[in-house]
Amino acid sequence: MKVAILTGGGDCPGLNAVIRAVVRRGEQHGFEFIGIREGWRGLIESNHFRLNRDAVSGILHLGGTILGTSRTNPFKKEGGPQRVLKTLEDTGIAAVVAIGGEDTLGVAKKLSDMGVHVVGVPKTIDNDLSGTDYTFGFDTAVSIATEAIDRLHTTAEAHNRVIVCEVMGRHAGHIALHSGLAGGADVILVPERPIDLEEVCQHVRTRLARGKRFSIVVVAEGAQIQKGKDEVQTAELDDFGHVRLGGIGAYLAKEIERRTRVETRATVLGHIQRGGTPTARDRVLGTRYGVFAADLVRDGRWGQMAALHGDAIVAVSLEEATKELHLVDPKLYEVAEVFFG
Ligand code: F6P
Repeated sequence: MKVAILTGGGDCPGLNAVIRAVVRRGEQHGFEFIGIREGWRGLIESNHFRLNRDAVSGILHLGGTILGTSRTNPFKKEGGPQRVLKTLEDTGIAAVVAIGGEDTLGVAKKLSDMGVHVVGVPKTIDNDLSGTDYTFGFDTAVSIATEAIDRLHTTAEAHNRVIVCEVMGRHAGHIALHSGLAGGADVILVPERPIDLEEVCQHVRTRLARGKRFSIVVVAEGAQIQKGKDEVQTAELDDFGHVRLGGIGAYLAKEIERRTRVETRATVLGHIQRGGTPTARDRVLGTRYGVFAADLVRDGRWGQMAALHGDAIVAVSLEEATKELHLVDPKLYEVAEVFFG
């Protein structure tokens, strides 16, 4: 059986670990593999190459994806789904392993409903996909952000500054919450809760009153000010209707300095959180997901996704995985709040 693998959406540490695991396990099942270039775009444009054990050798520890990725949505392209079906037919591909987040797996779900044999693997540093406790890539992003916060701490203290650290997290604040907790942030701001600027400044003032003349504020890029939201987003939309985020950190820094009179700087971690080598945890999780996905194909369990429940890898439907976003647990946010100010 010919099986295609594709990676879609933002790249994520651990993608190569998954690709390697799918191929290694799948070859044991007798599958032949086709690597699709740049996500769904590769199936629309019939851009692919033969993938085998040699091609996935030595990639376990590498960031990025040997397949390339894109944010292409076939359902937003003229004749897109039909062209995907034609590529599958012309190349004799019998099944597709789609590695992606809510957008990529949303497309997988629609194609599955049209009869395409698809299985999914949950990817995103944001960890905002439902149906699984964790996506791979999240642990690496949190580790990178935590290390950055540790570094910002020492320089903030040396200069008596407030430093606002903007991390990724479009709809959900998992990275901000986990790295902020791990890094001992004095305030953590997430998309799930509108920002109250006065409250943020009050935490900085409380610390000042205790003789702490520096503070660390961690903010997810998707967090929003109660008013003035439009000031920190671009109007540009991608194929899935998302704006490009960024700017909330700089906006907050300006406002905190103006209101508290403490010198305030902003650092945006951006794509540093997505690049480079995955943590051991993400390599292990990605490998377990990949092996399980190959087994889902062997068993013909179409429309299913590998997921982590507790410490077990299980199958959940793509429908369950994509029907809503996995947001931060308010109870965990309450734990973080104990340390604010
Ligand atoms: O979806 C993952 C993510 O890293 C988000 O946190 C972020 O908003 C977005 O991708 C950035 O996308 P791009 O790399 O396309 O600018």
